[in-house]
Amino acid sequence: MTRRYKFAASHRLHATALSEAENQRIYGKCNNPHGHGHNYEVLVTVAGPVNAATGMIANLSELDPFVTERVVEAFDHRNLNEEVEEFRDVVPTTENLCLEIFRRLKDFPAARVERVRVEETSKNSFEVTADES
Ligand code: NI
Repeated sequence: MTRRYKFAASHRLHATALSEAENQRIYGKCNNPHGHGHNYEVLVTVAGPVNAATGMIANLSELDPFVTERVVEAFDHRNLNEEVEEFRDVVPTTENLCLEIFRRLKDFPAARVERVRVEETSKNSFEVTADES
């Protein structure tokens, strides 16, 4: 089962281990000191047996508050670099954002979190699956 969630956040791609010139060369306009924003879409896939009594893999009434609290409310209208502890020293690329979202969701109690997909733009998306993480 896959459920889609959305949040808006800003970030700046800047690696503290690299020089200003290297950052500029690697990240280009995404290295702008003032940052820029995205309307991120997160697709969370959970897997498991269909419960014989409910006919469901997991109840959305359990998944929604779990994802909302751990991801949507934690990231929505935030500056990822400044306001999310995990990105103080880790570049908030969407690869790293996807990994962080997976980490925050992987212990969902009602079903196995199989995949997290983050769509950064209509052209870019990133995925983490349970066996790779
Ligand atoms: Ni960006």
